[in-house]
Amino acid sequence: MAGPAGRGAADRAGRRQVAAGVLGQRRPGPAARDRIQPSERDADVAVVRQQVEPARGTAPVVIGVRGWECLDSRGNPTVGCVVYLEGGVEGVALAPAGASTGRFERPALHDGGARYAGFGARAALHVLDDRVAPALVGRPATDVDGLLDGPSNVTVAVSLAAARARAAHAGLPLWQYLAGPTGHRPTLPCPMVNIFSGGRHAEGGGVVQDYLAVPLAATSFAEAIEQVWDVRRNAAALVEQRAGRLAAVLVADEGGLALSGGDDELPLQLLTDAIERTGHSMRIAIDVAATQVEKPAALLDEVVAWCDRYPVVSIEDPLSDDDWDGWVDATRRLAGRQVVGDDLFATSAERVRRGADTGAGNAVLVKPNQVGTLSGAAETLALARSLGMRTIVSARSGDTEDDAIADLAVGWAAGQIKVGSVTRSERLAKYNRLLRLEEIDRIPYAGWDA
Ligand code: PGA
Ligand code: ZN
Repeated sequence: MAGPAGRGAADRAGRRQVAAGVLGQRRPGPAARDRIQPSERDADVAVVRQQVEPARGTAPVVIGVRGWECLDSRGNPTVGCVVYLEGGVEGVALAPAGASTGRFERPALHDGGARYAGFGARAALHVLDDRVAPALVGRPATDVDGLLDGPSNVTVAVSLAAARARAAHAGLPLWQYLAGPTGHRPTLPCPMVNIFSGGRHAEGGGVVQDYLAVPLAATSFAEAIEQVWDVRRNAAALVEQRAGRLAAVLVADEGGLALSGGDDELPLQLLTDAIERTGHSMRIAIDVAATQVEKPAALLDEVVAWCDRYPVVSIEDPLSDDDWDGWVDATRRLAGRQVVGDDLFATSAERVRRGADTGAGNAVLVKPNQVGTLSGAAETLALARSLGMRTIVSARSGDTEDDAIADLAVGWAAGQIKVGSVTRSERLAKYNRLLRLEEIDRIPYAGWDA
């Protein structure tokens, strides 16, 4: 087991300091909150930036980095990390894990062997202990992402934990800390919410991975969630009529409904019916996750035909992640709709640039663990935006109670978020955070047209 053995004196001293400083841990007190309340006016962003930047200028030093093996929403081991900074603050984060991982994302490290069916995280923790922590301890916290090297389940946990620690040191919630240097007014994202699952997230169903509700007429985040809840409830009722109660209560990896039988069009019919029953003005998004599909080009013809028959506004990964020419053609054929690259772009700035240059896709899914660090993800998102592409911050199918992704979507003003269905607490952790940021912190809602 990758344990605490081998840690340096600085780390031990740091732990003592942390232990002594826990009670005095800095939190965003009333004064800090008053100073930098989010504002409806862009002009105030400049004020927020000025107030955030000095805090960044006096970066505290990392005094400890510890990891532990925890479990994700599929029950598989993943990496938990706590980063300790001088002054008694810490940041904690848990790494998520994909099932339909693309070939171009930074790979995660699993143990292999019999323990936890090969998913163990001990090897990853050895990397954290032996390579990552020694490189970071004693360095300014702002340097962390630039020094990170290793498997994605280590780097993303450390990167996120360090960002949380820096935000705590600055006395700011994570979203506000991240918003500082972007120059963009923080906004609440429009959610794309999973209703039906297939593919790798619901083996035994069809090949298409995700059918999502897009509440594009909602005027607030709370209204968006309420409307989607209605749709899911109606969709579950339709499933119950067809396949019985058990089929309607079992949930797939992201909390969505799953149908057996391998029909890829049926979820679209049921979702369209469910939306009609609610009376809400809503559209549909699909994630084909075609990298996992045997004959993606044949499926694309079907997808294009569906777009004429159903209210589909967004199509993700309609082709596999190395078919650049196919993507250019697909983006043309799906014109007028959002065409999202997930596995295609793998949150890589270089791949996003190629997409923009060639016309492959017009929107980018941003998953921090695909690129490995928060700053890598921020850079890709900023580039995508500057190239006129829409951006969607996304969780993974194996996720945790860590709600950081909500703060990233808000702080980076991504415009959209995709974290799964409105069931299962690893999904609701994110929605509940966003509901709070709307109700209590009064962050404005971006809406679909943002
Ligand atoms: P993954 O799925 O986390 O299993 O990769 C999410 C997605 O494809 O959007
Ligand atoms: Zn996807």
